[in-house]
Amino acid sequence: MRLVLVGPPGAGKGTQAQFLSEHFAIPHIATGDIFRVNLREGTALGIEAKAYMDSGELVPDSLTNAMVADRLKKSDVANGFLLDGFPRNILQAEVLDAILSQAGTQLDAALELTVESSEIIRRLAGRLICRNCGRTWHLDFDPPSAPGVCNDCGGEIYQREDDNEATVLRRLEIYSEQTEPIVGYYRRQGVLISISAMGEVSEITNRAISALRAAVSN
Ligand code: AP5
Repeated sequence: MRLVLVGPPGAGKGTQAQFLSEHFAIPHIATGDIFRVNLREGTALGIEAKAYMDSGELVPDSLTNAMVADRLKKSDVANGFLLDGFPRNILQAEVLDAILSQAGTQLDAALELTVESSEIIRRLAGRLICRNCGRTWHLDFDPPSAPGVCNDCGGEIYQREDDNEATVLRRLEIYSEQTEPIVGYYRRQGVLISISAMGEVSEITNRAISALRAAVSN
């Protein structure tokens, strides 16, 4: 299964990716997570990406495409992958097609998660992340038992710097201007699957698995 997840900030891409990558036994590759690890480790890539991420802008394609091309050379993607947060514009989608075509493969599906705007704001305003294991929590929908501490690993929980109101609004603008056009791009390729990402997390996972199974077996 070679899969990309498409959806606005807060649609639940990262949340669903955890379950889908486990279900299909494919690595979850999230460009936002890779940038955040680089930021935490103080690498040149992280330092360069920081200003873009903090203001809700896209990190330049030159940096992002090279990073993804490198990641897709690793041996664990031989039987598939789940890309989350990439591609984010038409150029990135074309670059991904070129990388796959050079490797003699192609995408099986682009899974679009659709969600209402009011829900996006609620989800992002309460999102919490474990600094140690990266597990995502939510203040209201999925709170850790002890405030500030990850149930899974005991790590410290924090709020993402780009989850403040002004930056979320800019990320939503960027999504509709630059990222949403890739929905049409994948529809024209015949690989687009759209599902509603409203409701319980497990309900959405089941919806996604059924839709992907049906599409890939056709
Ligand atoms: P990135 O990290 O990719 O952020 P994003 O696309 O804005 O997506 P999010 O992580 O905010 O949302 P999500 O859909 O994963 O939601 P989640 O599952 O966490 O990118 C960050 C930045 O990096 C970008 O702005 C850019 O600067 C840079 N970048 C990354 N990729 C790039 C690229 N390709 N090119 C250029 N720049 C790039 O869920 C959100 C919350 O809701 C959580 O708390 C969760 O618990 C909760 N939740 C999820 N599902 C449900 C549900 N069904 N019911 C209730 N709560 C739910």
